[in-house]
Amino acid sequence: MSKPVEAVLVGAGQRGRDAIGIYARRFPEELRFIAVAEPHESRRNLFAEQHGIPEEMRFESWEDMMDRPQLAPLCFNLTMDQTHRDSAIAALAKGYDLFLEKPMAHTAEGCLEIAAAAREHGRLLQICHPLRYTPFYLKVKELLSAGKIGRLLSISMYENVGYWHFAHSYVRGNWRRIDESGPVILTKCCHDMDIATWMAEDHVREVSSFGRLSHFREENAPEGAPARCTDGCPVEDTCPFYAPAFYLGPGIGWPTSAVSVDTSMEARRKALETGPYGRCVYRSDNTAVDHQVLNAEFEGGTTFNFGVRANTADCYRTIRLVGEQGEIDGHFEKREVLLTRHGQGYSDSCTREIFKTELWDGGHGGGDTGVVRNFLRAVHEQDRAGMEHSLDIAVEGHLLSFAAEQARTSRQIIAMREFKDTLQHASG
Ligand SMILES: NC(=O)c1ccc[n+]([C@@H]2O[C@H](COP(=O)([O-])OP(=O)(O)OC[C@H]3O[C@@H](n4cnc5c(N)ncnc54)[C@H](O)[C@@H]3O)[C@@H](O)[C@H]2O)c1
Repeated sequence: MSKPVEAVLVGAGQRGRDAIGIYARRFPEELRFIAVAEPHESRRNLFAEQHGIPEEMRFESWEDMMDRPQLAPLCFNLTMDQTHRDSAIAALAKGYDLFLEKPMAHTAEGCLEIAAAAREHGRLLQICHPLRYTPFYLKVKELLSAGKIGRLLSISMYENVGYWHFAHSYVRGNWRRIDESGPVILTKCCHDMDIATWMAEDHVREVSSFGRLSHFREENAPEGAPARCTDGCPVEDTCPFYAPAFYLGPGIGWPTSAVSVDTSMEARRKALETGPYGRCVYRSDNTAVDHQVLNAEFEGGTTFNFGVRANTADCYRTIRLVGEQGEIDGHFEKREVLLTRHGQGYSDSCTREIFKTELWDGGHGGGDTGVVRNFLRAVHEQDRAGMEHSLDIAVEGHLLSFAAEQARTSRQIIAMREFKDTLQHASG
């Protein structure tokens, strides 16, 4: 059995515990957590117990941990978005190779500063974009890179969030307020911006965007609906968003695990009576938009159009790449990729090939496993060039999210070069 690489974990919340911690538990020969920083005592102790971390290696915050000499070669930072900038820069400066959750930071300047810190300190930096490392998107990329559809002309992508998922995360949960966590085009769709940028392997020239919060608003509340579902709502038998229907069932995995660390029925009921997840979806303090579209053009001429919408029944993403000689259509949740290549004559001469991609263990269609594995591979191989290229794409994708939000709120087309120049000046 090979010796696992040692790591510290910062932020033992839902992702720290369930997405990353679980990797080390499944593959103890690859990765071992030897320290944890987390302010919530119950979360800190749960993670520490799951990973056999002794008392003296349990810290109350990333600040406490980073005050100490470097404890291991790797740091996994799974804190909330607003904490990323300072904690990531501190970890890079301390000498850790860093795995950082997306979004890199909740401001565009923060993203650039983190990337600059990785360069300055010569550290590897993996942004947690799991989709890039799923068999599905790897297949799409492989077909494109192999020239199967010729030069890429256009990219169309849709993200159907699902009414219940949107209500959980973007109406009641952590990402409901643009001013606190960032816009949906960043917090949810930086994955999609990353995929588009990765497919195009190019810089964005211009972007426009429209969208608004239409449904999850006070004026749409059913008559007599109280502030909380548990306060005796007159439509509790029919409302699709009735909180106990989601969180007081038999399942205790995500999203129920986000409601209460203690997943007993009593604790969950109490959490709905007092915490954010019991709120009426029409009477929350949310500002996240529930539908948005984006149009962009890359410098090489590839066009990109994208839409995100909350009120879909199912949660799924689609992608369509059109090249000079064919097209690639993909449905992420069905794991199906259709390659069509032009024939000679009418459409019936086209060749069509369907690929059913594998499903790996781990969240995001196996991407959570794939992205950690890629980071560990890069660490073992010291693949600096590969990681820098990957980081450049991630930064470009993040900047596209920020520019799109500026386009949406200003109702203007944003020129990316000017947008980037302004940022460079702002961050000195
Ligand atoms: N890659 C993905 O697909 C994906 C999916 C969901 C969430 N995320 C991202 O993962 C991150 C974490 O999300 P989550 O759902 O686990 O949130 P969470 O709130 O469950 O976890 C964040 C944890 O950080 C802890 N924390 C706060 N201040 C800290 C400090 N000073 N030092 C150490 N820890 C501190 C919190 O107490 C909390 O336990 C976010 O950035 C989120 O946007 C990524």
